[in-house]
Parts: sequence; structure tokens; C-alpha cells
Amino acid sequence: MNTKGAEARALLNWYDEHARDLPWRVGPSARKAGHLPDPYRVWLSEIMLQQTTVATVKAYFERFTALWPTVEALAAAEDDAVLGEWAGLGYYARARNLIKCARIIATAHDGVFPDQRDGLLALPGIGPYTAAAIASIAFERAETVVDGNVERVVSRLFRVEMPLPKAKAKLAELATALTPEARLGDYAQAMMDLGATVCTPKSPSCEICPLQDYCAGFAHGDSARYPRKEAKKPNPKRHGYMFVGQTKSGGWILEKRPESGLLGGMLGWPGSDWSDAPEHRPPYEAAWAHVGEVQHVFTHFHLTLQVFRADHIKSAPENAVVRTHNAFRASDLPTVMRKAFDLAQSHRDTSAIPST
Ligand code: ADE
Repeated sequence: MNTKGAEARALLNWYDEHARDLPWRVGPSARKAGHLPDPYRVWLSEIMLQQTTVATVKAYFERFTALWPTVEALAAAEDDAVLGEWAGLGYYARARNLIKCARIIATAHDGVFPDQRDGLLALPGIGPYTAAAIASIAFERAETVVDGNVERVVSRLFRVEMPLPKAKAKLAELATALTPEARLGDYAQAMMDLGATVCTPKSPSCEICPLQDYCAGFAHGDSARYPRKEAKKPNPKRHGYMFVGQTKSGGWILEKRPESGLLGGMLGWPGSDWSDAPEHRPPYEAAWAHVGEVQHVFTHFHLTLQVFRADHIKSAPENAVVRTHNAFRASDLPTVMRKAFDLAQSHRDTSAIPST
């Protein structure tokens, strides 16, 4: 069966029953009653959801919207307050672009988000996926949202043999052809929910799928084979040294990382570069004790850090950011820095650190 629009109808009927209850979402019955979500909340959630799971994003979203309920409030916030709240979500360029974008909306757009794809695309941090998501979810525009979930659903529906990433354009074309003319916002979110809860990567629940009747993968009993993917090269390994120091009066000796580059603008512990052969050169003199190593996976490499700790440091270097006990929140640190901190903390009482 392949009546034009039948897939979208089946998916929307399923969504009416099974839509996930998410803090940024206006559910299908409220939308039918004419309520659209606040574009600020749609934008914020979509930026957070780039590369990050719904489960992780929920708490961050609640906290951000409690602290900054409007785009104007976010635009007026201190950079460091926003970066601190973002810590742990990863991909920190998103947070810097979030601040930039909020300020542009607040100043150049009178606090009103553009309601079309092109206007959205012109803003920092908004690419084709996010522009389509905001345009359809917040403004009911006829845009097709294509992310990894949608690619998976479509590749299974049509048993697309071409591997990703080559198949991206083809999958986007097929996804566009399936997009209905009405209920665009519900449809975009229904696709996301289907990909997240039914048409899952490893063992899809085809037996409960609303698109069963239209799915070539289901008909052949091999939907889990799709999407086909080109073999990935393993991530390169990099190494580094990191130094967690505390002053005599208990202040943690941190640094603000350069604005551009990895973890840009975030707080962190000083250390070496991260490379094949980093140089072991402590940032200041102290009785450094090796406390172990931490591992962290970034998008393009795998990092192993040797972590050192020193206490009772007489004076911090000039460019350091010293956070006293009361002002220090480990949750302000990006995850890799927090791992180093946790390791250093756990060795506080066991390693032989001379107290000079
Ligand atoms: N993933 C990306 N955007 C989403 C949304 N709006 N709802 C659920 N999952 C998503």
C-alpha cells in the first residue's frame, strides 16, 4: 500500500496517542486547540538537543528556562553564568553561539525570532537541521527536519542500500516527499519520537510501529540492517598532562580557556597541549603528585590525561582564575575537567603530598 500521504497520516495518528511529554513541547491536543510553543523554548531545546540526548537535556532545559524565561533575559545574562550552566552538556561552541544569538534576537529583532527558515539560518548556531526544526515546530512552516533519527526511519522504509554519509541527499529527498501539508510541527516531532522510541538503532520494535504497512524493511524482516554506513576510521588517540592545584587558603587554581577552540571560554585546569607527544611542563612550581589518568572521548579524538595534584600553593600565577571554596562549583566545569577534579579529590588523603 502506498497511498500518497498515508504514511504521514498513520504517523500522526500514532503521535496523537503516544507523543512524549517533554518540557519544551506543546502536545498534539493543545496544538489542535491552536496553541503553538514559545519560539524561544523551541530554539533553546533544539540547540541543546544537537548531539545530546533528550534524557540529558531535560534538566538543563528546566534550569535554563527557570533562570532565563525569555530570550531578553538570556541576552542580558553574564557570559560566565551561561557557560557555567551549560557545563557538562558538551560541544561548548553551542553555548557561545547561544549567547550571541540571544543578543542578536534581543537587540536587532526586538526579541522576536524569525519565522522562516532563511531568517533562522542567518543566526549563529542555527544550521539547516535546527532552522527546519524551529520553522516547523514553532511556526508550522512546510519544512522537513532531517536528523539521524529521520535518516534511520526513511532508510528502513525504503531499504536504501546506499551507505551514509553518501546517502544523505537521497534520504533527505525521500523524507521531504513524505512530509504532509498540515500539522508540520506535530509531524516533525512525531518522526523524532518514532526514531527515538520505536525505530531505534539496534533492535527496532517493528511489531508496534505505525508505519509497518509501508515499510520495506519490515516486509523483508531486515530493518535493523539499515541505514547502511561506510566503515568509520577509529578515532585518533591523544595524550596530555593536567594540573589540579589548590592554594594555601583553599582556592582552586583554574584558567579560562581561549574563546576559540575546544571547550572555548570554559573554565579548566591548566595543562599541556593534547597531542601525540605532549610536553610535561607544570604551569607553576609546586610539589606535584601524579594521581592517575582520566579518559575522555571527544568527537574527533580519544584523550588520555595524566593528572597531577598539588596543595598549599603559596601564590597562583597571574593569569589564573582562583576560585575559593565557596565560589567553586565542580558543575561549572566541562566534563573532562570535572573528571580530572574528581580524580584529584579522591587522592587528596591517600597520596603523599608534602605540605611545604
Ligand atoms: N530531538 C531533537 N529535537 C527534538 C524534539 N523537539 N523533540 C524530541 N526529540 C528531539
